[in-house]
Amino acid sequence: MRDADACRRAAEGVDVVVNCAAWTAVDDAETAEPAAAQVNATGAEHLAVAAREAGARLVQVSTDYVFDGRATSPYAEDAPVAPQSAYGRTKADGERLAVGAHTDTLVVRTAWLYGAHGRCFPRTIAGALDQRDTLDVVDDQVGQPTWTADVADLVLRLVAADAPAGAYHATSSGQVSWHGFAQAVAEEAGTDPARVRPTTSAAFVRPAPRPAYSVLGHDALRRLGIEPIGDWRERFAVAAPSVLGR
Ligand SMILES: NC(=O)c1ccc[n+]([C@@H]2O[C@H](COP(=O)([O-])OP(=O)(O)OC[C@H]3O[C@@H](n4cnc5c(N)ncnc54)[C@H](OP(=O)(O)O)[C@@H]3O)[C@@H](O)[C@H]2O)c1
Repeated sequence: MRDADACRRAAEGVDVVVNCAAWTAVDDAETAEPAAAQVNATGAEHLAVAAREAGARLVQVSTDYVFDGRATSPYAEDAPVAPQSAYGRTKADGERLAVGAHTDTLVVRTAWLYGAHGRCFPRTIAGALDQRDTLDVVDDQVGQPTWTADVADLVLRLVAADAPAGAYHATSSGQVSWHGFAQAVAEEAGTDPARVRPTTSAAFVRPAPRPAYSVLGHDALRRLGIEPIGDWRERFAVAAPSVLGR
């Protein structure tokens, strides 16, 4: 990502470049913003230039952290970006630089990802419930838990539909707090959701501010006749066996 020539080589002969790479250590970025920006902003620009030169479309994966998290209704795709953290600023710059370098860029924002590989919230919660009687989870941040398989599927559908360049939101529908999501994990793991107790963010102060409201709208998809991902709880029920491995 930081090496423009390596990006060029990677994009050679390719029809669509999907940029999933990022500096995602949200808290570390607060004290290492230039290093995060090298990947999330400059790196995205390198890939955009490489895609343009290769005649490929670019899918720039982005995040809810580009918004201020203070809204009370879902963020539209064209809502003004106002990141509140270093990570969010670098990702917002990545969107801007990618679109500036390559007009055929689809900015695909996602959020609250979980999947079968790597660390993710549901597996952490399920593991903690195996170890402890009760858990305290924040109930003052809401968002849309989203399965990585659904994001991949939506990216494929956008490309297959030859969607116009622009911003799209690849999140589940509905909304829930981390506490509510943790209770859903308990349900899917076959244990009592009351073991997950609500608490507030004040009990978990971290270096980077977390958006209180991370709910994204899906009107741009609907206008194209592309079905959004669907309700977060229904999708989690489908995903849970593979994600929780039980
Ligand atoms: N996780 C979420 O809830 C979430 C929410 C919203 C948006 N997103 C976005 O979704 C995308 C994927 O996130 P993720 O959670 O899957 O992140 P992740 O697990 O941290 O994966 C990021 C990937 O980027 C690679 N990478 C980092 N620096 C690189 C560099 N300089 N050159 C090449 N590759 C580099 C990493 O490779 P190594 O493993 O080799 O370091 C890793 O494979 C990102 O754009 C992120 O901003 C994620």
